Amino acid sequence: MDLGLEGKRAIVTGGSRGIGRCCARALAREGTRVCIAARTQDALNQVLGEIDELDGEGFAVAVDLNSQKNCQKVVRETVETFGGVDILVNNVGAAKNADILDLSTKQIDDALRLKSYSYLRMSQLVIPYMKENQWGRIINIAGGAGTSPSRRNMPTGTANITILNMTRALSDAVSSDGILVNTICPGLTNTFRAREQQHARAIRENRDVEELLWDLGRELPAGRMAEPEEIANVVAFLASETCSYMFGSSIYMDGGARRGTP
Ligand SMILES: NC(=O)c1ccc[n+]([C@@H]2O[C@H](COP(=O)([O-])OP(=O)(O)OC[C@H]3O[C@@H](n4cnc5c(N)ncnc54)[C@H](OP(=O)(O)O)[C@@H]3O)[C@@H](O)[C@H]2O)c1
Repeated sequence: MDLGLEGKRAIVTGGSRGIGRCCARALAREGTRVCIAARTQDALNQVLGEIDELDGEGFAVAVDLNSQKNCQKVVRETVETFGGVDILVNNVGAAKNADILDLSTKQIDDALRLKSYSYLRMSQLVIPYMKENQWGRIINIAGGAGTSPSRRNMPTGTANITILNMTRALSDAVSSDGILVNTICPGLTNTFRAREQQHARAIRENRDVEELLWDLGRELPAGRMAEPEEIANVVAFLASETCSYMFGSSIYMDGGARRGTP
């Protein structure tokens, strides 16, 4: 299937590792020019090397996406380099969870600032360029915690449910301009973050974090956690010309974990 991604211009936030890295690679493989943004230059350089090996084109901006100024810098440099933006993958996220009885409001603020607010800011910044061409794709990476609250996941859950809300509202605002806004909610995915997230539990239960992760995966209907490439393949579809009739949708890629209907 030709996804029609050749020559498109994309930004992937949190593109140096995990799901973001795989999204950047998947888009580059399809001929999309990619800007990746994250804080650590070495990790960004490594992904740029991988894009190069795929005969793709990319550049990186090393910034902390907590700040509005840095979000502006990413979009400005992308427009200067590629002449516009067609695709935005909002993926950055690093919420620190804690038990709700010990949680500080700062922990919730931090999760919202990096994830929900940067997703909104980045969207607002790229939409004028997408409107110029009456074409655009915004793909948000939220997470199952948004609709599966537990006593230990309120920061990440609050950020994710905000994104689900924003996806619908933003889609209504820009769908008539040919801009499709959709969200993927991954479940447990084999990345650095999954290890970081399970670290406290592994200590609490005196278990090896790798063993804990694989056990959690085995408990899922899928029998395993997701690989980040699997999430990225769906992102590439949502970013494409081929995806032409999905507006404000949220797709759960959680190995069947979610119990709610729909
Ligand atoms: N893995 C899972 O099980 C899972 C499940 C559900 C949802 N998700 C969501 O999927 C998204 C990607 O997660 P992942 O598992 O791929 O995480 P990851 O492996 O930890 O990668 C996170 C990326 O974000 C960047 N980043 C972190 N803080 C940043 C900041 N302040 N400014 C700019 N960049 C920053 C990191 O690079 P630097 O640290 O160098 O900045 C890295 O590139 C997140 O939104 C996460 O909530 C993941």
